[in-house]
Amino acid sequence: MGPDTALAPPLLTMSGITKSFPGVRALDGVDLEVQAGEVHCLLGQNGAGKSTLIKVLAGAHQPDGGVITWHGEQVALRSPIAAMRLGIATIYQELDLVEALSVAENVFLGHEPTSAGFVVRGSAARTETAALLRRLGHPEIDPERLVGDLSAAHQQIVSMARALSHDVRLMVMDEPSAALDPDEVENLFRIVGDLTAEGVAVVYISHRLEEIRRIGDRVTVLKDGRAVAVGLPAEQTPTRDIISLMTGRNVEYVFPDRPNSGPRTDPVLKVQGLTRAGEFAPFDLDIRPGEIVGLAGLVGSGRSEILETIYGARKPTAGQIEVGGRSLRTGSVRAAVRAGLGLAPEERKAQALLMLESVTRNVSVSSMSRFSYGGWLDRGREREAARGATRELSLSPDDPSVPVRTLSGGNQQKAVLARWLLRGCRVLLLDEPTRGVDVGARAELYAVIRRLADEGLAVLLVSSEVPEVLGLADRVLVLREGRVIHESPATDLDEHGVLDLVLEGAR
Ligand SMILES: Nc1ncnc2c1ncn2[C@@H]1O[C@H](COP(=O)(O)OP(=O)(O)OP(=O)(O)O)[C@@H](O)[C@H]1O
Ligand SMILES: [Mg+2]
Repeated sequence: MGPDTALAPPLLTMSGITKSFPGVRALDGVDLEVQAGEVHCLLGQNGAGKSTLIKVLAGAHQPDGGVITWHGEQVALRSPIAAMRLGIATIYQELDLVEALSVAENVFLGHEPTSAGFVVRGSAARTETAALLRRLGHPEIDPERLVGDLSAAHQQIVSMARALSHDVRLMVMDEPSAALDPDEVENLFRIVGDLTAEGVAVVYISHRLEEIRRIGDRVTVLKDGRAVAVGLPAEQTPTRDIISLMTGRNVEYVFPDRPNSGPRTDPVLKVQGLTRAGEFAPFDLDIRPGEIVGLAGLVGSGRSEILETIYGARKPTAGQIEVGGRSLRTGSVRAAVRAGLGLAPEERKAQALLMLESVTRNVSVSSMSRFSYGGWLDRGREREAARGATRELSLSPDDPSVPVRTLSGGNQQKAVLARWLLRGCRVLLLDEPTRGVDVGARAELYAVIRRLADEGLAVLLVSSEVPEVLGLADRVLVLREGRVIHESPATDLDEHGVLDLVLEGAR
């Protein structure tokens, strides 16, 4: 930064921002200062207030108190349009695209009409959208495709194209890397680099601390709705310090020990020649009680498809599955659940959660028979059981009567997992179990998964985070383009080796 910019007021300051929801003080006097051209990282545990703060900044929430300045002048961000007019663009944690509209329509949604109709319409919108997508490194996305047909990663690119279609001075990204593959994360970092080189400021939220080191300039840490550290240097501040600021304690980011003796009993899950033409080649797998098997591979390598096919949500074109020595009818979720399979799916919002229902109901929904007697539901027992499962994962707030919709992203993920803890299955299929979960809670989650395995559960784990697969699983299968290209004990692999396998197909 040159001497001139040092004298200029910051691009953005937020001071003493407060925001309450019924029963929750989400922001309790937060300060944030952002300079033009910097990457300012916002860190904090699940529920700390990060998304709430950036929604205030985006004009989507009105704060109860506090002052916001832009180029040194006080402003009110009364609506998303008002924020956008200043040049503040936001990529939300839960993307807010309209699935039934095309890419180009989404990009130009919300652009104000002029006397000549819309600023950009029809073919002009398509041409301009195509140019934005090229700039974002994704010329292959067709501006006319429906957004609902795109992968999560491509949807995020569309969300960024929409942000760039305005004259953006500050780009806010709420956990943009959570749904991305390693090479897509590289592309994201390149985009962030291009933006900051043009003087655009970026506010970046992530639970992956190594990302903060790579692209961050300064860090603000939130805890329980307060900023506990403002503007720390991103590169020099030790990880230990950041984690203890976030959590108020020293968390060792370690994986639980593996049991000394390997599993001895017969496999509880046997998969033979399971195939879905066009998605994955014949897939074989045995898992014994007590074993955690990891599936590594890129998005689109067939990982999630295999999990969903075992679970009966997709019908295989060939192959057999046995659970506990008994043949399982394929293509039936009901049969799979009855046989003792549980799936914590990747997209919690669309596939798993009843957003308007309470945490209790979301957690107990798969175990209702345990709480009903002759048509009578024992709500007290239902609530107590749900509370036990959510406490085990430190789900916040510690009040299972609140609707799931009001939980922070990471706490919604915990609600999905708590459901399967409560249900007590024989085989647990976990698809990206720690997506959006903070570092402190991760360690707890890993310990819970290992404990369940020690108690005799078999676990099949899919994760984009290679260290997680290597640290948690006993055995690892590496998938590439729908085919298993490597299988070994987790201790025989390192992160580099796995990345070479998933990206190049060889070590
Ligand atoms: N619409 C809402 N109604 C009620 N409470 C809410 C609402 N939105 C957020 N909260 C509460 O505000 C607090 C802060 O949530 P926020 O989403 O900002 O957390 P976060 O830091 O983004 O967490 P995560 O890392 O899990 O995404 C949480 O206690 C959450 O339950
Ligand atoms: Mg959030």
